[in-house]
Amino acid sequence: MNNYEGMAQKISDSVYFVGIFNPNVRLTDVIVKTDFGTSYNSYIIKTGGKNILVETCRSNFFDSYISNIKKVCDPSQIGYIIINHSEPDHSGCLANLLEINPDIKVICSNAAQIYLKNITNRSDINFITVKDNEQLDLDGVKLKFISAPFLHWPDSIFTFMESEKILFTCDFLGAHYCEPYVFDFCSDKKDAYDTCLKNYFDAIFGPFKNYVLDGLRKISSLDFDFVCPSHGPVLTKDNNFSKLELAIASYKDWAEPKKNTKAVIPIFYCTAYGNTLKLALAIRDGILSQIADADVQLFNLVQEDINYLCDIMNSSDAFLIGSPTINRDAVPHVWHLLSGVDAVNCRNKNVGIFGSFGWSGEAVKFIEQRLQALKMKVFADGFRINFVPSDDDLQRAKEFGADFAKGICKSVDA
Ligand code: FEO
Repeated sequence: MNNYEGMAQKISDSVYFVGIFNPNVRLTDVIVKTDFGTSYNSYIIKTGGKNILVETCRSNFFDSYISNIKKVCDPSQIGYIIINHSEPDHSGCLANLLEINPDIKVICSNAAQIYLKNITNRSDINFITVKDNEQLDLDGVKLKFISAPFLHWPDSIFTFMESEKILFTCDFLGAHYCEPYVFDFCSDKKDAYDTCLKNYFDAIFGPFKNYVLDGLRKISSLDFDFVCPSHGPVLTKDNNFSKLELAIASYKDWAEPKKNTKAVIPIFYCTAYGNTLKLALAIRDGILSQIADADVQLFNLVQEDINYLCDIMNSSDAFLIGSPTINRDAVPHVWHLLSGVDAVNCRNKNVGIFGSFGWSGEAVKFIEQRLQALKMKVFADGFRINFVPSDDDLQRAKEFGADFAKGICKSVDA
């Protein structure tokens, strides 16, 4: 795909897309992979008076963005900007727009108001803060605002335009996915979109599944034909290639709590000379001696996809990590895995640490400290041995695994 920078396109009688396409970006928010790029969607609602802008975009696209806006209206004719969520991929151009037109009123939640003052470094913004279910009539256009905390930040709201059956959801129901089309049914790669929708859900909403279910409940009573998110295509109904119903059903499915049918206790490890692996195998035997039907798989962090392993880690009942010590630290693959811990839902999860070391052996201690900081239940002192495990070491590793399993059973009983 060429480097499209967005367009102005009519969506409904009075709503226009004026967002930015960024097809070539492969990583966003520092950690989120975007194999098919992303878009920063922004919309203009034309009114009988001053117009309404819904979201802005990242600040580095301002020149293209303002050019898109000008295809629909002069910036002096924008009276309101709705910021459904203040993260800078949506608020990044707010300061630029206020420079051009300081009379613009900014509509957002109370939390977003606080964030936006620090994002724009302006103290003179004319805010209108809205509460859950509040309605405003903006120059003849009636809008309803729905509080949607943690979808994606505490500040998030949805904006509902009943007259044209449009729901503006910002991150919610979005996808880091970019084609040079605004609508879902124009897509050339339907399956790729489905994959991106899931990846996006996991990355953005995985820690907030209860809030996702709350959000879905709130919008279930609204009558809308379009969802205008702030990333990915506008979602529609009633076309063979429409994605709106699929996105909502998928969110519901992914967010519903799922209980493992048996104890899932993965063991993640790195091994330089096979010694930490030997410990992993002995620990597995110990776990199985206590919970015979437990699902205890070993995963080599060097050989497996880290995102895949993060899913396993976050949905497990408990897990263990083994690392050698290299350069007085755990190895980078371990830290990469731990950067994917769902810190909200893994709080209090049972974890165990182990590893073989040659000289100083800091890895186990450092991993423990990291998991304790994440408020997880770190089992006993981590299990360390020097160089090659002896038969006695392996027996102790097995006992470590057995005691770890007993600890899990106790947690379940309690
Ligand atoms: Fe697209 Fe949470 O920002």
